[in-house]
Amino acid sequence: MLRRLHPDQPASFAFTPANQAWAEAQITKYPEGRQASAIIPLLWRAQEQEGWLTRPAIEHIAGMLGMAYIRALEVATFYFMFQLQPVGSVAHIQICGTTSCMICGAENLIEVCKQKIAPRAHMLSADGKFSWEEVECLGACANAPMAQIGKDYFEDLTAEGFAQMLDDMAAGKVPTPGPQNGRFASEPLGGLTSLKDYTGEAQNGSVALATRIGDTLKRIDGTEVPLIRPWQGKSAPQGVDKATAKAHEPKPSAGKPVDETGVSKQEATATPTAKPDSVAKGADLAEAEPEMLKTARGAPDDLKKIKGVGPKLEGVLNELGVWHYWQIAGWSEAEIAWVDTRLKFKGRIARDGWIEQAKILADGGETEFSKRS
Ligand code: FES
Repeated sequence: MLRRLHPDQPASFAFTPANQAWAEAQITKYPEGRQASAIIPLLWRAQEQEGWLTRPAIEHIAGMLGMAYIRALEVATFYFMFQLQPVGSVAHIQICGTTSCMICGAENLIEVCKQKIAPRAHMLSADGKFSWEEVECLGACANAPMAQIGKDYFEDLTAEGFAQMLDDMAAGKVPTPGPQNGRFASEPLGGLTSLKDYTGEAQNGSVALATRIGDTLKRIDGTEVPLIRPWQGKSAPQGVDKATAKAHEPKPSAGKPVDETGVSKQEATATPTAKPDSVAKGADLAEAEPEMLKTARGAPDDLKKIKGVGPKLEGVLNELGVWHYWQIAGWSEAEIAWVDTRLKFKGRIARDGWIEQAKILADGGETEFSKRS
């Protein structure tokens, strides 16, 4: 199947403010020079916002990541999950047509799509509200046949129930995701055969979350869940309890090697020789995280009194957990390297003499620059 951009494109694209903030936060997960690694989440968020991936959206994201447009286009056209043509304004229906679902009635669901939406996949319905396509196994085979709509799975479908669901959505109702035959999850159709005493939640976790967030048919504008950035040392925003923040917390490697060799097991197997000293030393230098603080101890110091630190860089340092002169004054060479890798312009700590300045300021003195600032 040829995957090309749609001939009719909008004039421009912009993330909503909340989605823009989310996208910018995603980029900070990657090391300096590796921002292009955020291409897939950003393209995905653009699709969640607009329903499909437009050329201006791909160009906008390529610009955000400093990538050539052709590189972003390659990603967008490679993955089938990216919709390159307009989709229904209410919903794009993805019917699983793989073996389990096919045996259990997927072809009947596709027939409903042909009757109620459009005779061919990726065509808009006459009212523009729906579109559909057949997709490969979505991993919910125990609840076949099933369809994905937006972020959610609708399982144990029947042709009649599915047709009614389409009518309901066209009338503005939001269906409840999950099994449509009363099952909690993928327990036996005939009822529980073990753990019969279990009296848990009314809905399984996935359905409960979708219901709570209310994003089933919604175009995602970034306001659905709070923006949490624990990898930047940000604590949970107001209104988010610790358990929720913890549950959303990503588990990055924090740049730490898996063991003292500094290489992954796969690399170790493929390359049994030790890394050159210079490489190992460089890696070690970038790994020594200085003492960071979630919040300032008392009033934060005015880091802008350090030559080379402007308001923006002060914000970055605060996000990293740097609030005081004494923190900077105590950085070792390895800790400087750790901070340096997280700043946009490498080498500025040494070039501008931050450590020397911070030592004077921490002792209550003034530098030539701080006197003027
Ligand atoms: S075969 Fe349909 S979800 Fe796996």
